[in-house]
Amino acid sequence: MTNSKTILITGSNRGIGLELVKESLAKKFSVAGTFRNKNNAKELLKLKSNNLKLFEMDVVKENSILNVSNNIDYTIDYLICNAGINNGYGGIFDQDHSYEKMLEVLNVNVLGCILTIKHFTRNLGKNAKIILISSIMSVQKHSGSNALIYRASKAAVNNIMVSISQELKSKYITVSSFHPGWVRTDMGGPNATLSAKESASFLIKSFENLTFEDTGKFFNYDGNEMNF
Ligand SMILES: NC(=O)c1ccc[n+]([C@@H]2O[C@H](COP(=O)([O-])OP(=O)(O)OC[C@H]3O[C@@H](n4cnc5c(N)ncnc54)[C@H](OP(=O)(O)O)[C@@H]3O)[C@@H](O)[C@H]2O)c1
Repeated sequence: MTNSKTILITGSNRGIGLELVKESLAKKFSVAGTFRNKNNAKELLKLKSNNLKLFEMDVVKENSILNVSNNIDYTIDYLICNAGINNGYGGIFDQDHSYEKMLEVLNVNVLGCILTIKHFTRNLGKNAKIILISSIMSVQKHSGSNALIYRASKAAVNNIMVSISQELKSKYITVSSFHPGWVRTDMGGPNATLSAKESASFLIKSFENLTFEDTGKFFNYDGNEMNF
């Protein structure tokens, strides 16, 4: 690893996470990217850079998080909790809202963020920033009745962001959440307004501009503060 800024990105094998890796490398950051399955990580595994280290990690398997945290021997400046799933875009009466599917969404999106932060905080450097990727769909005033458990999970992401920001204030660690925009990924679909590259480029600039004053706040990808 070089002396540049260091960043760890969860769920970095595709979508926004993969573009965050590429954008960070272009900025000469030292990057740790995590993926949970080699078969879904071919593009990521093909990236060649001395500044890139890749780790297998599932955010709902505590041992796999601990394994990565134990194998990182430098301090992390930016911890990005990006891994997330949705349960389709149906309503409460759709199959998407089976008990098992809803639990999976809450596990990955909420508990996954908590476990990631819990086990990586000891790897964080001075003035580090923890970023949770949330969604505008978390906002109570955002219209729409579909994907209600996904909305609830992202509202919970913003809620834990505030709690953790308060807990880590004494360590001067900034904890904020971001809406990445509506992005053309497997999750966002082909009609979304932003490419993953555009979203990642905005996000990285906004992460760099974060200060300790921003702890406990929710932002749009362009750095504008959003209401919860
Ligand atoms: N796309 C949008 O318009 C949009 C809008 C608002 C918010 N977001 C949020 O942005 C983040 C990235 O979304 P995306 O659009 O890039 O989605 P995506 O293309 O579906 O990618 C999701 C990523 O999360 C990983 N992941 C899922 N479950 C995981 C687990 N248990 N452990 C570790 N990694 C896991 C996936 O890995 P696998 O390949 O192994 O499944 C994949 O790398 C998510 O938090 C999402 O909720 C997206």
